[in-house]
Amino acid sequence: MELSGNKYGAHRVIEPRGVLTQAAARIDNDMSKLYDNEILCDVSSLNIDSASFTQIEQACGHDEAKIARMIMDIVNERGKMQNPVTGSGGMFIGTVSRIGSKLDGKIDLAPGDRIGSLVSLSLTPLKIDEITAVHSSIDRVDIKGQAVLFETGLYAKLPDDISEPLALAALDVAGAPAQARKLPKEGESVLILGASGKSGVLCAWEALKKVGPAGKVVGIDLDPESLELARGLDIYTELISADCQKPAEVLEKALAANEGREYDVSICCVNAPACEMSAILPVRDGGIVYFFSMATSFTRAALGAEGCGKDVDMMIGNGYTKGHAEITLDVLRENRKIRELFDRKYV
Ligand SMILES: NC(=O)c1ccc[n+]([C@@H]2O[C@H](COP(=O)([O-])OP(=O)(O)OC[C@H]3O[C@@H](n4cnc5c(N)ncnc54)[C@H](OP(=O)(O)O)[C@@H]3O)[C@@H](O)[C@H]2O)c1
Repeated sequence: MELSGNKYGAHRVIEPRGVLTQAAARIDNDMSKLYDNEILCDVSSLNIDSASFTQIEQACGHDEAKIARMIMDIVNERGKMQNPVTGSGGMFIGTVSRIGSKLDGKIDLAPGDRIGSLVSLSLTPLKIDEITAVHSSIDRVDIKGQAVLFETGLYAKLPDDISEPLALAALDVAGAPAQARKLPKEGESVLILGASGKSGVLCAWEALKKVGPAGKVVGIDLDPESLELARGLDIYTELISADCQKPAEVLEKALAANEGREYDVSICCVNAPACEMSAILPVRDGGIVYFFSMATSFTRAALGAEGCGKDVDMMIGNGYTKGHAEITLDVLRENRKIRELFDRKYV
C-alpha cells in the first residue's frame, strides 16, 4: 500500500526529528518506496551550487576523482547533496519516472517528462548510483541516480529551444534575475558584485532594462579575463576590477564609477565569503542590498551594517520568486550575446 506523505516532506527526515528536510542532518533516500505526494525522477545531472562546489574543489585540491568521491560520501551520509560546510545544495535535471497517487493527474507532469528541479538539493532526497563525469569549470556533475520532489517542490519543464546543460546552468540561479527586475526603479543605480559570473550577468541584463538609459548598472569582479568577457556583453554601464573581500577598495572604486554618489541597490553574486561589507557600504540610506550569495553571513551583514551606521534594507536571496524560471530563460532568448557566452561556457 502507498504511504501517505507530509506536504513539506517531513516524512523523509531521519534526524533530528521535528525539523524539515533542509535543516535535517540525514534524510531517507530509499527510492524503493514512493509516498503518495512524491514525484520520483531519474537524475542525469546535478548543478552544484557555486559556493558549495568551490569549497569542495578547494578541499579536494582540484582533483576530480576526489571531488566525485566527496560528493558521493556526502550523499551517502546525508541522503541529499548538502555541503556540510556551506549548507547549500544546487539543483538537478532528470526524467519523471513515477508520480504518487495524490498528485497523479493533478499536476502538469507525466512519466517521461524532462524537468529541472527548482528547489535546493540541500532538501531533496537523492541517491547516486554512479558519478559518470565531473565538469569542474561549470560546477556540474553527471550521474546515474534518482531524486524525489515533494508536492510543494518546484520544478520547470525543460524547454525545447534551450539545450539541457544551458537550462540547468541558468535555472540554478533563477531567483536572482527575477529580483534584479523587481528591486530597482527607472533611473536608479545598481551595483553588481561578482559581475562576470552566471547570476551576475543575468542580473545585469534585467537591471539594465529596468533602470533604463537614465540609470546605471555598475559591475565589480576580480579576474581581468572574466571582466573582458563581461565587457563584451554591453550590459554594464561600467565595469570595475576589485576584490569584494576588501570593502574599502570596493567602496572607493564603486563610488568613483557613480559620480561619487551612493547606489540605490546592490546585488551580491560573489561565490566567496566575507563580501557583505562590500555590498553594504556603497549603498545609500534607505537603499536595498540583495544578498544572493550563499556564502553570505547573517551575522557579518547585520553587525557590519549596524557598526557602520548603514540604514539599508537587506534581503536574503530567496531562490524563489514568482515567474523566476521563465524570466531567467527569457534572458537567454532575448540577449544573443549572453546566450552565446553561456553556450560556450556551460554546454
Ligand atoms: N540564493 C540562492 O537561491 C542561490 C541559488 C544558486 C546560487 N546561489 C549563490 O550565488 C552565488 C553566485 O553564483 P553563480 O553561479 O553566479 O557563481 P559564479 O558564476 O561562480 O560567479 C561568481 C563570480 O564572483 C567572482 N568572484 C569570486 N571571488 C571574488 C572576489 N573576491 N571579488 C570579486 N569577484 C569575485 C567570480 O570570479 P572568478 O570566476 O574569476 O573567480 C565570479 O565571476 C554563489 O554564492 C552561489 O552559491 C544562490
